Amino acid sequence: MSYRLLLVGPPGAGKGTQAELLCEYLEIPAVSTGAIFREHTAAGDELGQLADSFTSRGELVPDDVTNRMVDVRLDCEDVTGGFLLDGYPRNVDQVHALDRLLAARNWTLDAVVLLHADDEVVVERLLGRAATEGRKDDTEKVIRHRIALYHETTQPLLDLYRERGIVLDVDGVGTVEEVAERIRTTLEDFAASR
Ligand code: AP5
Repeated sequence: MSYRLLLVGPPGAGKGTQAELLCEYLEIPAVSTGAIFREHTAAGDELGQLADSFTSRGELVPDDVTNRMVDVRLDCEDVTGGFLLDGYPRNVDQVHALDRLLAARNWTLDAVVLLHADDEVVVERLLGRAATEGRKDDTEKVIRHRIALYHETTQPLLDLYRERGIVLDVDGVGTVEEVAERIRTTLEDFAASR
């Protein structure tokens, strides 16, 4: 099986942490829309300023901007052998946009890894990160808004992928290595069953 994967989960579920480990293991690049927005914001360019006006409030950056950015990223040479999308798609319209982006390249999605972690667990993790990294969207108010938005807007998209039989549920609570091992095992079992 090729590895064209999504990593979905609430803020603080460990998507960025696990994306790095899984991508190293599978030798594919991670494509994190949140990280790309933060790079642009740090650079102070036009996209970064626009993104910051949404990300700092915990709102989604408009779909047309995000979809275009992913389209450009999927044209890069390094994703031809597979990729892990982290944090995209984040609503049902983005699922349809991604379907179009993949179809245009004759690609299909292989699996959606869904990391589960309860709200209070992720709040605690993100407040811990706020103390060390100071990410602008890691205030308690914005964290809780991001979590609410995940439940309202992102969780419903999982129904579409469940209908396709490609959602792999993984418990995101445990040590980083325990979760990484669960993801690898679940993915390998799934690949073996295809
Ligand atoms: P994004 O960067 O995707 O943020 P997020 O979804 O809120 O997720 P986080 O980065 O906060 O957490 P994570 O799940 O990656 O966990 P991490 O590994 O960092 O998006 C940011 C913003 O960009 C969005 O709010 C939105 O505005 C915009 N955006 C992004 N994508 C978009 C899209 N598609 N459309 C529109 N807008 C979009 O871990 C968190 C903390 O927990 C760390 O401190 C880590 O060390 C710790 N940790 C990790 N694993 C464990 C563990 N197992 N045990 C204990 N601690 C752990």
